[in-house]
Amino acid sequence: MRISVIGSGYVGTTIAACFAELGHEVVNVDVDEDVVETINAGEVPIHEDRLPDLVAEHAGEGGTGRLRATTEYEAVLDTEVTFLCLPTPQNDDGSIDLSIMEAGATQLGDTLAANADWHTVVVKSTVVPGSTEDVITPILTEATGGTAGETFGVGMNPEFLREGTAVGDFLDPDKVVLGADDDRALGDMRDVFDPLVSNADAPVVETNTRTAEMIKYANNGFLAAKLSLINDIGNVCKEYGVDTYEVADAIGLDDRIGERFLDSGVGWGGSCFPKDTAAIRAAARDRGYEPTMLDAATEVNDRQPRRLLGLLDDHADVDGERVAVLGLAFKPGTDDVRNSRAIPVVEGLRERGATVAAYDPVATENMRAHFPDIEYAPSAAAALDGAAAALVVTDWDEFAALDEEFDAMQEPVVIEGRRVVDRREGLTYEGLTW
Ligand code: UGA
Repeated sequence: MRISVIGSGYVGTTIAACFAELGHEVVNVDVDEDVVETINAGEVPIHEDRLPDLVAEHAGEGGTGRLRATTEYEAVLDTEVTFLCLPTPQNDDGSIDLSIMEAGATQLGDTLAANADWHTVVVKSTVVPGSTEDVITPILTEATGGTAGETFGVGMNPEFLREGTAVGDFLDPDKVVLGADDDRALGDMRDVFDPLVSNADAPVVETNTRTAEMIKYANNGFLAAKLSLINDIGNVCKEYGVDTYEVADAIGLDDRIGERFLDSGVGWGGSCFPKDTAAIRAAARDRGYEPTMLDAATEVNDRQPRRLLGLLDDHADVDGERVAVLGLAFKPGTDDVRNSRAIPVVEGLRERGATVAAYDPVATENMRAHFPDIEYAPSAAAALDGAAAALVVTDWDEFAALDEEFDAMQEPVVIEGRRVVDRREGLTYEGLTW
């Protein structure tokens, strides 16, 4: 099929490249000329495993030609289906800000007004229930002068990609959710995903747009709450000298709990869990419902970095001291620092008067925007050198191999938020929940 993808963020670029991999002809539309040029050169604007290979294979010179990028919305006129992958930031009260989606839908609708052919528009961004039906469809109706279900179709297809493993998650999904409010749009979405569904044998859930939107929030809300529950239990374990990881291994054997997503520690960050839980909590309140569990999940998550710093306080007064922070990315495998737990940890250290020496294998440049004036060490060893304590915030594999590097510390105090560094002789070691 001929597909356009509006937005070249991490989701847009990933799905555009993956659609090309499935055999579709794809055009990726973005306002950012640099990003467009990068993709057209067969390169990738973000740090994402396997994506460089896919983009090189399908875009740029020597590629299959199935992927190209442009700043021109008119490109959608040569396609049958458009996926809207635009950002959905949050307002100060945590509620969703749909203004970028609204502007994109307006521009798309204005462009499609020149189109006599049927076109299906699919919302891919995470939006609160009712957004597609009550906001996007009316915008497209007004801009095109047509009628949803008659002259154009509207669908909603939530994504469940994890940063760092997005390509693998796309090509081998747990499920594909197709939300549509009319049959023809649903048919188009089935055609788009057919090569994936037949190859990967993924279960397909077909529903309306409102339910598809809610499935995404329920998925992320449930996972965020699962993590906060194991962290809450982990905090109790710590008080009793019990290793939460041993407990998690045991309870994970119960199918109803499941072993995945039970690594407790300093909490969840990223662009999704924090924003999505905030948006659905605000949406619930908007309808007069108090989302107690989701509120608590956030509260526990906010508490974890404070508890990490509290453990540090038990062992060292870091006022005027150098403290190493190992890991800045919100999780390993990405250079994304949005809502990284490293942010409250660095803030807490600075409040205590410490001099922060931070190290991350890939996320340094992104963190510089938050904290331009802390030290960014070129290696973990350099960060540890002369430090009065070290806090582990991201579970990068390379931290597991650290050994005599700790000998260069002024005081060998390691406060672990992720359980990647091992206890070893000579080290004063505290695990956050073990
Ligand atoms: C998350 C969801 O996992 C995806 O399914 C979803 O598509 C995506 O949000 C989204 O809405 O776009 P992502 O934010 O990339 O994906 O990262 P995760 O791998 O889910 O990790 C989120 C946070 O939880 C990280 O800070 C990670 O360190 C933390 N985490 C994860 C734990 O603390 N323990 C675990 O056992 C797993």
